[in-house]
Amino acid sequence: MGWFLSLCFALIFSALFNGASAATPVIRPPYLDGMLPNGNFEISPKKSNLNKTVIVGKYSLPKWEINGLVEYISGGPQPGGFYFAVPRGVHAVRLGNEASISQSVNVKPGSVYSITFGTTRTCAQDEVLRVSVPGQSGDLPVQTLYSTNGGDTYAWAFKATAKVVKVTFHNPGVQEDPTCGPLLDAIAIKELLPLKYSKGNLVKNGDFEIGPHVFKNFSTGVLLPPKQEDLISPLPGWIIESLKPVKYVDKKHFFVPSGYSAIELVAGRESAIAQIIRTIPKKSYELTFSIGDAKNGCNGSMVVEAFAANKTIKVPYDSVAKGGFKKASLTFEAIASRTRITFYSAHYHTKLHDYGHMCGPVLDDVRVSPLP
Ligand SMILES: *[C@@H]1O[C@H](CO)[C@@H](O)[C@H](O)[C@H]1NC(C)=O
Ligand SMILES: *[C@@H]1O[C@H](CO)[C@@H](O)[C@H](O)[C@H]1NC(C)=O
Ligand SMILES: *[C@@H]1O[C@H](CO)[C@@H](O)[C@H](O)[C@H]1NC(C)=O
Ligand SMILES: *[C@@H]1O[C@H](CO)[C@@H](O)[C@H](O)[C@H]1NC(C)=O
Repeated sequence: MGWFLSLCFALIFSALFNGASAATPVIRPPYLDGMLPNGNFEISPKKSNLNKTVIVGKYSLPKWEINGLVEYISGGPQPGGFYFAVPRGVHAVRLGNEASISQSVNVKPGSVYSITFGTTRTCAQDEVLRVSVPGQSGDLPVQTLYSTNGGDTYAWAFKATAKVVKVTFHNPGVQEDPTCGPLLDAIAIKELLPLKYSKGNLVKNGDFEIGPHVFKNFSTGVLLPPKQEDLISPLPGWIIESLKPVKYVDKKHFFVPSGYSAIELVAGRESAIAQIIRTIPKKSYELTFSIGDAKNGCNGSMVVEAFAANKTIKVPYDSVAKGGFKKASLTFEAIASRTRITFYSAHYHTKLHDYGHMCGPVLDDVRVSPLP
């Protein structure tokens, strides 16, 4: 906290100081973008508040409130022959039947926030994790289909309606073994900046630069589940259609065609990403985009299909999993005052050395500009 306060003072001081000579000083509020307090669960409950792995007492997990059967887990081999991977740090919590953990977070009313969290299922059954703030909630089926080294990462977004919101993670399931339930490994929050159009491009957030928090030290990409509203979404501007997620990949851990981030189409035709743009009927437009591979072991002949108005294009890309991209374009004539542009991967792909894990082509730099 000390460094943060001194940073604030330094910013205010320099703003005031510069204000004396320059024009209007602008003091931007700090944007939330990082782990929640004890969001990686590395601050342990006291030994006296643990009965073996079970946390005893509503306020015994530092910075969190717990309800029901919540276990405090250390990664690695477990009694009973299980193995729990905890890729970010050493500790995690497991939510048993109907159990939950929550934390109150200071936010700005009216802003949209995205929560990024690493989670793994621990028993063979299908597990669901419900993330909520008062009045808004999302159910995420916890699978382990998209990353090799334990723990898929998901994002979910909400719009703040008060200055303090209580964020809750709940296991709505009831299994025969009451301890069975998803493992939570790390939880971060990020305020999403309002969307702006960039000059000459009718697509909002077409470079995918506005997106969820990405864990700095270890990232398997962030899965963006379908059926989110395009305004309250961890990927503002875009609609994730159909049944399966798309994956948000970042430059630090993957190859991306440009900027800091891109989208990996990990679920074939079962997942499409779309945006509705404003157009003038009978006017011609050009849609351009980049496709490539994320340098993540995803080899093969890929095809991305793009749709705009009544036109479609299939763009092939041969991935040798070394990272690379090509540009593609499609001209179309608008039929109405709204035009939907849609992308999906025509095929399923799995990782070269790990057939259980799905992957796919990368999409970036989506632009639509009017033709003269
Ligand atoms: C620990 O949990 C077991 C099983 O639920 C229970 O029988 C025991 O009384 C608990 N011990 C303490 C000290 O609460
Ligand atoms: C990242 O790793 C460094 C060095 O291991 C560690 O000090 C830091 O706390 C880690 N950060 C997060 C957010 O886990
Ligand atoms: C990778 O895919 C290409 C076709 O895109 C194929 O020629 C090559 O043999 C594949 N490599 C491996 C190691 O499977
Ligand atoms: C697409 O729309 C244009 C303009 O409305 C029309 O002229 C054309 O015939 C349509 N093409 C197809 C394949 O439907």
